[in-house]
Amino acid sequence: TDLYAVIGHPIAHSKSPRIHQLFAEQTGQLMTYEAVLAPLDDFKGTLQSLIRRGYLGFNVTVPFKEEAFDLCDVLSARAQRAGAVNTLSIQSAKIIGDNTDGVGLVTDLLQHQKTRLAGQRVLLLGAGGAARGVLAPLLEQLPSYLYIANRTAGKARQLAKDFLDLGPVQGGGLETLNQQTSFDLIINATAAGLEGAMPDLPDGLLASGGGCYDMMYGDQPTAFLRWAEQQGAAWQRDGLGMLVEQAAEAFLIWRGQRPDTRSVMAALR
Ligand code: ATR
Repeated sequence: TDLYAVIGHPIAHSKSPRIHQLFAEQTGQLMTYEAVLAPLDDFKGTLQSLIRRGYLGFNVTVPFKEEAFDLCDVLSARAQRAGAVNTLSIQSAKIIGDNTDGVGLVTDLLQHQKTRLAGQRVLLLGAGGAARGVLAPLLEQLPSYLYIANRTAGKARQLAKDFLDLGPVQGGGLETLNQQTSFDLIINATAAGLEGAMPDLPDGLLASGGGCYDMMYGDQPTAFLRWAEQQGAAWQRDGLGMLVEQAAEAFLIWRGQRPDTRSVMAALR
């Protein structure tokens, strides 16, 4: 049996073992996938001991994605752009790093939510690792404009600068949203939802027919998705679909086969 794991802190509530187990059953792959808690100060040691025990691949989650990036011997182009990795493969004792978060988000938006990104005005809330990880795949879809708004304005401006070669992206503080016209899609990539909070946003940000996507998910609607409803969003969606799609991309990297995500999503809901 081939061994895989997701490493994070915390990790107990991770849905990834269940998702990969369903993928493995569906595709008839002989593999195990478990959740591993790494001490906050010893991601590297945890990873190395699993590699010594013959594990073939890993997902990496909060708060280790940047640290994992630094430990890779080889990085995909999209991982380099993201500055973080969520998927590791061990090949001839080398650590190969990739980042499937952004493609997971885009696939969920296009295939399951059936929304368009091309020609759309997109607002990305947050300028941390989660936002950075999805910017390149979003810009690849050719939105007409992408604005990054963040509590700390300088981080949004810097992030926009870092990705300006890929498309029409600008950034600023949340207070600058008053001066922006409305958006067809608003994506929450802040960590505010972890505290049940959300960024302070002006009314009227959402264009008529526009939708809202929260990269977070939970058993209850998130604060951001409740806000979306109040703002009359045409649709709102949480990040469970993104989670399943990023997992499917990791599975493809490891096993050469892309599982059907629709049935897995249905099983999780
Ligand atoms: P992640 O890897 O999840 O992106 P991060 O790099 O710590 O984590 O970034 C967290 C993001 O959520 C940041 O954009 C942060 O805003 P700041 O850059 O101003 O810190 C944002 N964030 C966290 N809590 C927030 C809150 N209560 N309101 C608004 N934004 C918040």
